[in-house]
Amino acid sequence: MFRIFVAHGDDHVLRVLEIARFIALKEGADIEIVSKAALLHDSFRNEEKHALKAADFARKVLREEGYGEEFIEAVAHAIEAHSFSGKMEPRTLEAKVLSDADKLDAIGAMGVARAFIVAGEKGRSIEETVKHFEEKLLKLKDLLYTDTAKKLAEKRHEFLKKFYEEIKRDLEFEDLRN
Ligand code: NI
Repeated sequence: MFRIFVAHGDDHVLRVLEIARFIALKEGADIEIVSKAALLHDSFRNEEKHALKAADFARKVLREEGYGEEFIEAVAHAIEAHSFSGKMEPRTLEAKVLSDADKLDAIGAMGVARAFIVAGEKGRSIEETVKHFEEKLLKLKDLLYTDTAKKLAEKRHEFLKKFYEEIKRDLEFEDLRN
């Protein structure tokens, strides 16, 4: 099968699950809400308003699984509020944890790898991807909520910035001019 949207594929979901559970443990968030939200957060990644669609899908799935309304809404809110482009503020600790975990997977070496997979998916050039670093990826560390995530982000952000500066130098042939 030809796999599209690999940057937001199952491996991304499982990494977000791992990171989110780690943050949830440290911050005292509800592990079950965070885990369900992480597993379902990118269900409709290839569609417009994917976070809202994924939240509705989660409501349906969890209702079928017999969860109570309060639990379901907690999961759905975390999913709705995780998206960078959705611009919805997370109101609960669990929503903040998911948002943080998703952003951590978009920075560091993993962020670089995923940015270029997205570039392939969208037909974006290297220069356009470098712009995407400026417009989004380099800003993510300032959009984190929990102290645990902020700490994890330090090294990842440093690497991202270093890569960004290096590739900019390559694009400008800086080493040919010295
Ligand atoms: Ni995601």
